[in-house]
Parts: sequence; C-alpha cells; structure tokens
Amino acid sequence: MSEQWPSVGCMSIPTRTLSDGFEIPALGFGTYPLVGEAGYRAIRSALEAGYRLVDSAVNYENEGIVGKAVRDFLAESGTPRDHVTVQSKLPGRHHEQARALASIEESVARMGVERIDVMMIHWPNPITGKYLGAWRALVEARDKGLVRSIGVSNFTPALLEEIIADSGVAPVVNQVEMHPWFNQEALREAHDRLGIVTEAWSPLGKRQAPFDEAIVTAAAAAHGVTPAQVVLRWHVQHGSVPLPKSATPERQRANLDVLGFTLADAEMTAIDSMTRADGRLFAGDPDTHEEM
Ligand SMILES: NC(=O)c1ccc[n+]([C@@H]2O[C@H](COP(=O)([O-])OP(=O)(O)OC[C@H]3O[C@@H](n4cnc5c(N)ncnc54)[C@H](OP(=O)(O)O)[C@@H]3O)[C@@H](O)[C@H]2O)c1
Repeated sequence: MSEQWPSVGCMSIPTRTLSDGFEIPALGFGTYPLVGEAGYRAIRSALEAGYRLVDSAVNYENEGIVGKAVRDFLAESGTPRDHVTVQSKLPGRHHEQARALASIEESVARMGVERIDVMMIHWPNPITGKYLGAWRALVEARDKGLVRSIGVSNFTPALLEEIIADSGVAPVVNQVEMHPWFNQEALREAHDRLGIVTEAWSPLGKRQAPFDEAIVTAAAAAHGVTPAQVVLRWHVQHGSVPLPKSATPERQRANLDVLGFTLADAEMTAIDSMTRADGRLFAGDPDTHEEM
C-alpha cells in the first residue's frame, strides 16, 4: 500500500489511486439509511467536517439528497467539483443490460451532477445471473461519460474474474463487508492481484462493533484515541477504504480524524486475529444472497 497525503479539500486525506488513474480519498462517508431532511443535514455536516467521498445507492433511496447536499456544499464553499467523489450502485432489479443503462441515466439525473464518479453493481445476484450484462452496461455508461469510474460491490474472486474475462475490463473497486470480525484477507489478496481497491462497508461492525474488545481498547489507550478510531485506522493501514456512517457530527469528525497515529505491526496483527469464519453481520454471502 502506498500512502500519499495530499490535501483534498479543507482536510488532508490520503488517497488511493485506482487502476484507471483516478484517485479517491482513503476514507469516505456511508449514507445508509440517511434520507430526507435529516439525511440532508447529516450529509452536509459530513462534507463540512471534511469528507470528500460520499457513498450512495439506488436502493438507499437517497441519491436525491446526496446530490443536493454535495451541490449545495460545492456552491456555498467554492469547492471544485472534482474535490468530491460521489458513488452510487445499480440495484439487482435493473441488471438486464438495456435496463441497467437507463437506470444509471436515472441515477445521474436524481443526483443532479454531471456524472457519477464511481458507479457500482450493488450485488452480483448470481442465482438471477444477469451480472455480465449489468457489467457491460457499466462499461457502456463509462464510455458514454455518464460515470467516471466503474466498480462492483459484494463480488467474489470467481465473479470478478468472470466479468473481467467477459468484458476485458476490470472493476476499479469492490465494496465489501469488512471489519475486525470479518477481515476479508483472502479477498483482499485477490484484489491486489487484480489491481482492485477494496472499499469496506460496515467498517465499524455496526451494532456489533468490537469497541469493548481488549485488543481494541488496549490500542485505543496506547494511542490516546477511541476504539472506533483504532478500527478505522486498521482499515486505512490495510489499504481498504472504510465508509463509516454516522448521523452524529461529533462522531463524523472523530471518524475522519484517524491520520495522526499509526498502529504498530503487533496491533494490526492482533486486530487481524479477531476475524471469524462466521463473522458476517448478516447472511450476506454473495454466492447466495440476492438483493433486488
Ligand atoms: N455495498 C453494500 O452492500 C453495503 C451494505 C451495507 C452498507 N453499505 C455502505 O456502508 C456504509 C457504512 O456501513 P453501516 O452503516 O452498515 O455500518 P458502520 O458504518 O460500521 O456503522 C454505523 C453505525 O455505527 C455508529 N457509529 C458511527 N461512528 C461511531 C463512533 N465513532 N462511535 C460509536 N458509534 C458509531 C452509527 O451511529 P450514529 O449514526 O448514531 O452515529 C451507526 O449506528 C453504509 O452507510 C453504506 O453506505 C454498503
């Protein structure tokens, strides 16, 4: 992992370089289930705190307020558009190739931005089996300029290799469940081989966050930070891009403030050792989970 520390917006956030040459911030903001006026306020406050990568999806039903929060923030702060990376995801019910392209056009219109920076397939839905057409639609959307970069979410190594072989185009990111209970070591090795950046959903572990675990509290005490900051720093040092969600401004700021300390190798290894074969937070095995 190479760590660069250029200034992105008002905060100094390291970036990850994608295989298509674009860069994304090394830590972003998750927006599920932020919706409506309260959701708008939470996303605005995250942008004001310094987040420059905002995740969304058709199925979060919040592309409208994500786009509005980003547009208002850019206009009011004078921040250039290319300093904020906006992501969305194609839902399973729109995988059929022609439908997928229209769906992406709808996402761009709902967000009210010229183009979406990173568009992903939300879940592969291998039982339905239309992900090859969906991926071809993403390639077409990129070639048409509707989206800048294209990736996937919840893909296994076998599914990644299949879409690459079919299209000749590799996704730039794979957004997957990753937290200390499920550290995705094997998948991250496949990503390294294929030149794919790992994005981490539920990076804190949601309600099952390991904030009381001795390994995490010991590292937090040693560095004078919170358990959540230890977990997010663990992601950053692994080169995965965590997307913590918080509706609370103080937590938003704290979750972004993980660049001023470094976990020792022994601390990284200890947190790695917390992973479990059954550590997924819900039955989200991509080979069997179908989400429309
Ligand atoms: N691609 C996919 O299939 C997929 C699936 C799930 C999620 N995602 C994405 O990943 C994002 C993050 O995942 P997530 O929301 O499931 O889980 P998460 O970010 O691990 O956890 C969010 C929860 O942790 C709390 N929290 C945040 N910061 C905290 C802190 N510093 N201390 C204590 N509690 C804290 C939040 O509460 P408050 O809001 O009250 O602070 C919220 O309840 C989502 O928002 C979404 O964008 C993608």
